[in-house]
Amino acid sequence: MDEKLSPTAKYQRGYLFTEADFQRICKLIYDYAGISLKATKRDMVYSRLAKRVRATKADNFHEYLALVENNQLQEWESFVNALTTNLTSFFREPHHFPLLAEHALQHTGKAPLSIWCSAASTGEEPYSIAMTIADAFGSFTPPVTIVASDVDTNVLAKAEEGIYPHERIEKLAPDIVKRFFLKGTGKQVGMVKVRPELQKMISFRHFNLLDEDWSTLGASDVIFCRNVMIYFDKKTQLKILEKFAHMLRPAGLLFAGHSESFHHATHLFKIRGKTVYELANLYDARHL
Ligand SMILES: C[S@@+](CC[C@H](N)C(=O)[O-])C[C@H]1O[C@@H](n2cnc3c(N)ncnc32)[C@H](O)[C@@H]1O
Repeated sequence: MDEKLSPTAKYQRGYLFTEADFQRICKLIYDYAGISLKATKRDMVYSRLAKRVRATKADNFHEYLALVENNQLQEWESFVNALTTNLTSFFREPHHFPLLAEHALQHTGKAPLSIWCSAASTGEEPYSIAMTIADAFGSFTPPVTIVASDVDTNVLAKAEEGIYPHERIEKLAPDIVKRFFLKGTGKQVGMVKVRPELQKMISFRHFNLLDEDWSTLGASDVIFCRNVMIYFDKKTQLKILEKFAHMLRPAGLLFAGHSESFHHATHLFKIRGKTVYELANLYDARHL
């Protein structure tokens, strides 16, 4: 570290990365996507963005952030994509899926059951939802719509493609693999692809949970919002939960991640099962 330059400036493996740069990054990603980065994430931020500094041929983080803020070289999107954490897996938190199947089969509304997977990452979660629904109805064309969205355009493209390394499905039951996946051949050996019938059950779209305008989404009977609220502070969580409460149809379900609880929003949601919520008060919630 060159102390003369600044007491907080740091050269890490090559690029000057100051505390001011880190704070600027924290503010940019918080304002845009609600992601709240703690001081302990500084090294992670460095290693994820250093690749972008290199790719854009910027000399240091200060210069790189000017590119981001002016969206030069369309760097804004890559900046956001680099800062999201996308860990996921097929049938993660498996206790949710039998409940989803039961709920879907009990649906009596005139409109098809509408499911929104709001932080879909690379697609394992929406495909697990689609497999559950296809099994429950014994059909790839059930009276159900599934929308999968994410703020990260890279993972969304991967989700839509539906191609995974074989090890991603190793823990799945052989009959699930047989019914829902195609094995890669030739150049694609070692990869699997979800069957096109399953892909057709899902509409993929870019959506930022921090967007003010949710009018294009329509009402939902089921919302999956798992393992993303942990990146948001309580204020942001509450803002999103208010919008969920407003768009969830009566008797609708909200599925949350294993370490997410909404004790601060008991006026909106009450617990229905292990990390599954329903509207606390149908009348109030829908008139927020
Ligand atoms: C850890 S993954 C969880 C994926 C999946 N829901 C699961 O539980 O396996 C979190 C996902 O949330 C997405 N995300 C982060 N901030 C978001 C926002 N503001 N709007 C929509 N998606 C967001 C990330 O891009 C990432 O793909």
